[in-house]
Amino acid sequence: MHGKLGTSEKGQAESIAEGIADEAEEHGLVAELSCLNQNEKYNLEKEKDPVVFIVSTTGDGEPPDNALQFVKSIKKKTSDHYKHLCYALLALGDTNYANFCNCGKTIERSLQELGAKQFYATGYADDGVGLEVVLDPWIEGLWKAINGALSKMASDRTDYSNAGAGDSIKETPDSSIPDVQLNLLRITDQKDCGSTGASVSKCATAASASAVSDLRPAAFPSQPLGTASVSAAVPHVTLAASLTHSLPPLSESSLNVPALPPPYLDVTLKEADTVQQIVGPSNKETLHEVPISRALQLTRGDSVKTSLLLELDLAAHPNLTYQPGDSFDVFCPNKDSEVEEMLHRLGLYEQRNHSVHISLLKDTKKKGAQVPAHVPPNISLLYLLTWCLEIRSVPKKAFVRALVEHTEGGVQRRRLQELCSKQGTADYNLHVRDQSLCLMEVLSAFTSCSPPLSLLIEHLPKLQPRPYSAASSWLRYPGRLHFVFNVVEFPACIARPAGRRGLCTGWLFDLVHPVAVFPEKAAWPQVMRTLPNSLFRPPSDQSVPFIMIGPGTGVAPFIGFLQQREMERKENPDAIEELEGFVSSGALSHLKVCFSRDDPEEEEEEAEEAFTSAASPRYVQHNLLRNRKHVTDILLKQKGFLYVCGDAKNMAKDVNDALLEAIRAELQVDQLDAMKTVALLREEKRYLQDIWG
Ligand SMILES: Cc1cc2nc3c(=O)[nH]c(=O)nc-3n(C[C@H](O)[C@H](O)[C@H](O)COP(=O)(O)OP(=O)(O)OC[C@H]3O[C@@H](n4cnc5c(N)ncnc54)[C@H](O)[C@@H]3O)c2cc1C
Ligand SMILES: Cc1cc2nc3c(=O)[nH]c(=O)nc-3n(C[C@H](O)[C@H](O)[C@H](O)COP(=O)(O)O)c2cc1C
Repeated sequence: MHGKLGTSEKGQAESIAEGIADEAEEHGLVAELSCLNQNEKYNLEKEKDPVVFIVSTTGDGEPPDNALQFVKSIKKKTSDHYKHLCYALLALGDTNYANFCNCGKTIERSLQELGAKQFYATGYADDGVGLEVVLDPWIEGLWKAINGALSKMASDRTDYSNAGAGDSIKETPDSSIPDVQLNLLRITDQKDCGSTGASVSKCATAASASAVSDLRPAAFPSQPLGTASVSAAVPHVTLAASLTHSLPPLSESSLNVPALPPPYLDVTLKEADTVQQIVGPSNKETLHEVPISRALQLTRGDSVKTSLLLELDLAAHPNLTYQPGDSFDVFCPNKDSEVEEMLHRLGLYEQRNHSVHISLLKDTKKKGAQVPAHVPPNISLLYLLTWCLEIRSVPKKAFVRALVEHTEGGVQRRRLQELCSKQGTADYNLHVRDQSLCLMEVLSAFTSCSPPLSLLIEHLPKLQPRPYSAASSWLRYPGRLHFVFNVVEFPACIARPAGRRGLCTGWLFDLVHPVAVFPEKAAWPQVMRTLPNSLFRPPSDQSVPFIMIGPGTGVAPFIGFLQQREMERKENPDAIEELEGFVSSGALSHLKVCFSRDDPEEEEEEAEEAFTSAASPRYVQHNLLRNRKHVTDILLKQKGFLYVCGDAKNMAKDVNDALLEAIRAELQVDQLDAMKTVALLREEKRYLQDIWG
């Protein structure tokens, strides 16, 4: 069986794919994994085995970087291109985003348009509520679906061969061993099942059945547990289930515990003087160490949340620029005290400066096993735990499963088995996932668990940078970058009696706390790498209105938007703004603005009332009439000037008529006298016109 697994921005799809590949073995299948951008490793054009795609979505419904090319290429293909393809798809997304699972949906739509056949209903896993909610049952059902697909393929093949010579034979797929293809994860039946689909299917079914381990509580391996025996095994009676204690029915239930993820790393620590003590993350080329030049607490001391605005000084990094709407990554280390605690817990504190050597276990059963790329060579153990591994991450069920093997004592082993089992899903969600427990918190509760360092490297994800949105405009603050954040607070719970702050926001908070005390250079944030967001920009046309909705720290990019517009307007003001500027400087004493209408009917209706009513004037002549006293004063008493300029067809004539009317009304003269007065103004060159077209 083959499987192809997909696309990932921050690694969740990838780790799910790896999990499926590992589990495939348990079902008597061998999986081959590839990322969608590794098109040298797979060939969908010729694929005859089921394929599983696992795809996340990023940006505003866009494919992750490593799927862009694939999505582009399938969109170009024409009908029936993939009619040979048999697929299932798991889409990862987050319902907090408008385009939920859009990349998965796009790929699926294209595959269907191109004639591919789905062998299992698409799963849409929602990171907003926890991927596992959909993920776990989806994977559970996958194996049966693959078996079904295998059987179908086998019988199709039989039909083809029974059809004898002729057209159908020409269409018969290649008669190589029919294995199932999971998207970019290649899974092949482990056993030599011969060359027919039927026998492959049979093998897979048998393996699948044996994968369901019927585990009894570890303390009583061979007999079902009654309530009495549970009480006898548990040191004290608890009324409610907790991280370490379960209640019936779970405590008495048989468990479907997932297969043990195959260990694959061999890790040794060596005393060495030459260990490179790198401070900060290892990808120095793309990162810049920037000082915090300002810190401002935006919330009052008694607010529930603490919001801070930080200003970073980019002056020393001329290549670092940004636009409103962009975000940037902050790389922060794990907390010193937590790293130390972990070192003690692993019994490796004394070796913290030893160098870490990692290689692949020679006999590992993990398919496609690789030394994690995020662990650079020749680093110290301290560095590994400080800068490489997300030690705060919530241990996945597979990790919990692996911890079982390193736990003494029946009760604790049993509880860990429960937490990673199918039956214990609700307990895992309640006591581990929803509390955001990290490994150290789990280890503190399971005192008899002593995992080796290799297990941490195998299961803890890469320490991720945290992105923040620019809350300033380069035009307004050249060489500076502002961002705004709330300090994340994890409330205390039984496994975390003191509560804790978010990793990055807590670190930034500590750097500038008390606010306005700036860190020494050693603690400058390891920023950044800007993350351009070319779609999330204010409209470049300044006359286009826009609406911004950004509760809480969501307001951050809009501060940048508004600063940008303010600065652009200052640099390139429109005529009215410029004129308003003259009024404020005193160069212009009065500015009367009017806005004409586009709708001629409306114009007609409103023209009359414009002369008299309080409605805002429509045309310049209306304004002239409305201010006739002032106008005649300027022209006739103060010997002022009147300039008329423009390209409007009737404007000059209308203005002239309005001036006659103003003079007639103000001086109480007849039309002829009014015309004489206007003629005099022209003669004296105090009524001047520059009319176009
Ligand atoms: C493109 C982008 C732009 C962003 N811009 C901003 C920004 O401008 N300002 C900003 O403040 N953030 C922003 N974020 C979020 C930011 O990157 C971090 O995720 C956030 O600051 C938390 O980081 P942390 O390391 O402090 O928390 P972590 O230690 O990583 O913890 C946060 C995680 O814990 C969970 N969590 C939080 N509180 C609790 C709780 N009480 N109980 C249980 N679980 C909890 C959250 O779901 C989250 O998964 C942005 C994110 C993205 C992707
Ligand atoms: C910056 C960012 C943008 C995202 N955009 C979307 C989106 O538009 N639609 C969606 O359904 N999920 C979106 N997500 C959620 C991810 O698809 C989801 O968290 C997924 O599990 C990530 O998997 P990965 O680590 O393999 O990339 C986004 C996540 C991030 C961090």
